[in-house]
Amino acid sequence: MKHLIDPMDLTVEEIDQLIDLGSKILADKEKYQDVCKHKSLATLFFEPSTRTRLSFEAAMLELGGNVLGFSSANSSSASKGESVSDTVRTVSYYSDIIAMRHPKEGAPLVASRKIDVPLINAGDGGHYHPTQTLTDLMTIYQEKGRFHDLTIGMCGDLKFGRTVHSLIKAMSRYENVRFVMISPEELRLPEYIVKDVFEKKNISYQEVRTMEEVMPDLDILYMTRVQRERFFNEQDYIRLKDSFILDLDKLKTAKKDLCIMHPLPRVNEISTKVDDDPRACYFKQVRYGKFIRMALIMTMLGVNVDED
Ligand code: CP
Repeated sequence: MKHLIDPMDLTVEEIDQLIDLGSKILADKEKYQDVCKHKSLATLFFEPSTRTRLSFEAAMLELGGNVLGFSSANSSSASKGESVSDTVRTVSYYSDIIAMRHPKEGAPLVASRKIDVPLINAGDGGHYHPTQTLTDLMTIYQEKGRFHDLTIGMCGDLKFGRTVHSLIKAMSRYENVRFVMISPEELRLPEYIVKDVFEKKNISYQEVRTMEEVMPDLDILYMTRVQRERFFNEQDYIRLKDSFILDLDKLKTAKKDLCIMHPLPRVNEISTKVDDDPRACYFKQVRYGKFIRMALIMTMLGVNVDED
């Protein structure tokens, strides 16, 4: 694995190995605390982030490594007109591995062609966000103990949500996974994913307009933000937004071991009253994100730890 641009660059076996390593680190953090000593991670974020940038930095620091980078294009020479490729090439001489977020789709792929150190795409516009997909998979594995025989509801903005598209593709590789798509008509899953994934692989899926009608069937409920800025008029947004606010009342018919996920940031699509419900996994998901990134950094740097 030289670079990680698209989550589907990873085979099922590679994902299994990353989750296995992430789980080992989670169980015994001290064992890994110096494995990246004298190695540096650069985080080049041309777009805002809380979780992705800081979890990458926390991951490298907890492996004993160093971090450098910037959190906005304005604080780099990109603001003077430097190209992304020149910026990334420059930083490749100061670091052993790079995590990069950019608003333009394809920017990390183009930048990766110019450098000799591994580059991780930390989100490129509406395209890919592979470490969020790995975080989601680590969460499913930790909370459900399996990737097969699951009914997954995906709710909110299914049209533009890059995390939804990548997770559907990743989970479609496992046995007996059923998908329920919960969205307003305006934010339905793109037809190409229905055709290329569900129909091509003969995967069971259902489209509904309310979460209440499918709640009792779900093993996982993956919530996403309904994005106000996507709507053509405010009235449509106001009409639709309340359909997708998850609250304790809507959870009354849910399974006792439902796993509620959200890539975050949350705006108001999950009531804060749900946060204390044992089925709320979205802050656990944040935590798992750091461990899977630790596993990814180690793997991409070729760092091994002798197993007992
Ligand atoms: N989930 C996620 O990518 O969050 P940030 O935008 O805060 O990094």
